[in-house]
Amino acid sequence: MDTLLLDGGRPLSGVVRISGAKNASLPILIATVVAPGEHRLRNVPELVDTSSMLSLLGRIGCASLLGETMRVDTSRVAFCEAPYDLVRKMRASVLALGPLLARCGEAHVSLPGGCAIGSRPIDQHLKGLEALGCRFELDGGYVHGRVDRLRGAEFAFDVVTVTGTENVLMAAVLADGTTVLDNAAAEPEVEDLARFLVGCGARIEGAGTSRIVVHGVPSLKASPVAHAVLPDRIEAGTYLVAGVISRGNIRCEDVRPADLAPVIEVLRAVGAEVEVGPDWVSAGADGRVRAVDIETAPHPGFPTDMQAQLMALLSLAKGTSRVTETIFENRFMHAAELVRLGAQIHIDGRAATIIGQPTLSGATVMATDLRASASLVLAGLAAEGRTEILRLYHLDRGYERLVEKLSAVGAAVERGQEGRPRFAAPAAVAG
Ligand code: EPU
Repeated sequence: MDTLLLDGGRPLSGVVRISGAKNASLPILIATVVAPGEHRLRNVPELVDTSSMLSLLGRIGCASLLGETMRVDTSRVAFCEAPYDLVRKMRASVLALGPLLARCGEAHVSLPGGCAIGSRPIDQHLKGLEALGCRFELDGGYVHGRVDRLRGAEFAFDVVTVTGTENVLMAAVLADGTTVLDNAAAEPEVEDLARFLVGCGARIEGAGTSRIVVHGVPSLKASPVAHAVLPDRIEAGTYLVAGVISRGNIRCEDVRPADLAPVIEVLRAVGAEVEVGPDWVSAGADGRVRAVDIETAPHPGFPTDMQAQLMALLSLAKGTSRVTETIFENRFMHAAELVRLGAQIHIDGRAATIIGQPTLSGATVMATDLRASASLVLAGLAAEGRTEILRLYHLDRGYERLVEKLSAVGAAVERGQEGRPRFAAPAAVAG
């Protein structure tokens, strides 16, 4: 299995071009199903997750063609199932529920189950779709959904859910009448999905706020204009932390600085130097950062998807920080691995206390989920000596060309193979 080998302690500096957002590409790819025709999409990152979503589109009978402008043809949908072998690889396959119900009146989607960061139920997806007239049965590990006619409705989510909001939105665009979604997720990725759907003829107001109003239309069709997926704010945030933790300076280009506001605020609070341009943000530091207390929250709060990366940075801060995770109940798996690198972190329920250390030292660590892996990469960049990160496949799900991008700003990083010896015998002994 592939691993990532890092020799830490080098200041990274230079420019990183940020890719399209994974978490916008996934709903947009499956949303093509509600608008029959040939779609053209730009800025879709090449990731394991986006190829899983293309496999799902293939399984339901839609062809796709990769390229700088990706093409997805949803003129015909032959099957209305998201099978277990795909859903277990990628939870976001559950996003097929809304679009398939809207397109086919029927959807059979394998239940995703829990994952490394929490139990992650989909009750809100189902409740929202039920409000639009869908009926569900759970059987054989699948959610079987049916609807004769989608009807607009008023629905308030009990908890803010990103993919839940997206699922209901993708169905509501084709419902009879008006749908009002309250306590909706206001994440930029939801807004980008809405922008895509509007390009296909949908009528949506308020996306990007907690109240979304959808005036249903009888049909949608693929837009002749290619949709460009918005930049990945989490990828950008990760590289900004890389600039700071390595005591260098990284400039992320092709970003939307407004989407990064909560991350920029925290980086400034820890004493990093942050500059912001129209479509770029740079961050760096020339010494240790200060401790800070943060709490994750739905957008525009501090994103849970940046919590692990920030914890890596705070492991090296002067003073004691407290990080509270309010979104997922089990998103501290990286803490124990950071401790292997020399961090001092104590977990108490949803709060972590991080006693900043002057240095970290390289070790072999295990990636448990995507963002946990990113935090280990960041810690490895700052640690003295060599860090090896096992289970690299998590990173391939969400960071496009990571090794290439990090190398370009001066990191000593390469892919390795698990179990390969790292220390060669001295030449004299090896003969
Ligand atoms: N929740 C429920 N019921 C539901 C849905 C969610 O109780 O029906 C709870 C969850 O258990 C969690 C909270 O609501 O405690 C928020 O979960 P949400 O549904 O918003 O998460 P998600 O939609 O499954 C997306 C991103 C995640 C990101 C979260 C939070 C995608 C494909 N995934 O997940 O991204 O962490 O929103 O912002 O958009 C990642 O990229 O690494 C990642 C995990």
